[in-house]
Amino acid sequence: MQMPDGLPAEIDLSRPSAARVYDYFLGGAHNFEIDRQLAEQIAGMTPNLAATMRAGREFLRRAVRTLLDAGVDQFLDIGSGIPTVGNVHEVAQTANPKARVVYVDIDPVAVAHSRELLAGDDLTGVIHADLREPERILTEARGLGLLDFSQPLGILLAGVVHFVPDTDRPGDILATLRAAAAPGSHLVISHSTFEDQPQEMLDAQRLSKRTDTEITLRSRAEVTSFFGDWTILEPGVVHMPLWRPDSPSDVDEHPERFGAFGGVARYDRPTA
Ligand SMILES: C[S@@+](CC[C@H](N)C(=O)[O-])C[C@H]1O[C@@H](n2cnc3c(N)ncnc32)[C@H](O)[C@@H]1O
Repeated sequence: MQMPDGLPAEIDLSRPSAARVYDYFLGGAHNFEIDRQLAEQIAGMTPNLAATMRAGREFLRRAVRTLLDAGVDQFLDIGSGIPTVGNVHEVAQTANPKARVVYVDIDPVAVAHSRELLAGDDLTGVIHADLREPERILTEARGLGLLDFSQPLGILLAGVVHFVPDTDRPGDILATLRAAAAPGSHLVISHSTFEDQPQEMLDAQRLSKRTDTEITLRSRAEVTSFFGDWTILEPGVVHMPLWRPDSPSDVDEHPERFGAFGGVARYDRPTA
């Protein structure tokens, strides 16, 4: 297949990619016919899924603002996706022009577009890496010299941990990332769930088997465990629209329909 201009040769255009399907749902332009076909099939089965993806993006924006209010000015955004409106560095730098962001994604299209968008921006960096190799991510992030791991860091894992199957030990991956962070750091997670979900949502999630990144739906208790012993901020691990909505009127009558939990936790200095 002919590779579109400017894209890395290793991209497999014969299979849809989660990042590009997500981009299509958010109204982005960085997707191909194979991605659009899968997206339309998913949308036909569960019309709410596009809204779910937008709700995920909104949760991330509110969480990043909360971290900025707490004084966090540097972010490691893993599974950052294809740049779309309201990227983490845009949200962060609106509040704090000196905020630094390192984006990490496994998808070469997401990485190529991120590099293109951020070329010349000294406060952001992009790493092509797999969440299942957290040590490598940490080493590369340190190598960029943008983040200071002795200071509070925002670790963002929005819509990505569900791509790690149990066999790849997501709990250990999270523990490695938490161990690298200084007191005052925050962890943001949103994660798809089977809890309270209608059958069509569960069926649609099964279509992710066609991408390289199959989804593992998890319970609220499993998602909560990813925060380890960090202090979970109010209102806890909840259906995403319920996490500190800008206005009560923003919350849908059925917040569970958005199919994912969101939560934020802080690393408090251990007492001696
Ligand atoms: C649903 S999108 C979420 C994008 C963004 N975090 C947001 O919330 O808007 C999930 C992203 O995770 C990436 N991803 C999936 N598995 C990954 C892995 N093992 N390591 C790093 N990124 C991964 C996909 O390529 C995709 O860009």
